Amino acid sequence: MTKPSEFSELVRRPSVVLVCVNRRLKMGEPSCAAGGSEAIADAMEAGIRTERIDVKLERSICMGQCTKGPTVRFAPGGRFNLPTRLSDVPALVAELKVLCGVKPADDGPPLLHLLGS
Ligand code: FES
Repeated sequence: MTKPSEFSELVRRPSVVLVCVNRRLKMGEPSCAAGGSEAIADAMEAGIRTERIDVKLERSICMGQCTKGPTVRFAPGGRFNLPTRLSDVPALVAELKVLCGVKPADDGPPLLHLLGS
């Protein structure tokens, strides 16, 4: 069973970053894709990969914030970042690095494998 301190730790640490890439089909209706969310998702993915941040990015469907987007949300349970601009990406990536930590460097196969044992 999860202890209260462990639970609050789980709530704070995002496991996924959701970036809405929905495009509404009727002309003139606001949508995250129309506001440039694909470029935001690409930039966030590049930042996460470069910094080796231990979090996944998912391009999501509409999160119901169409008039306020582009929409980015840290999940589970994180706040909506509204509107998200391309210029916000470095700060969001830096925040994710603090919240999620980094993956260990991939320095090749384990030493035992190299020794043939
Ligand atoms: S289109 Fe992105 S929240 Fe609705």
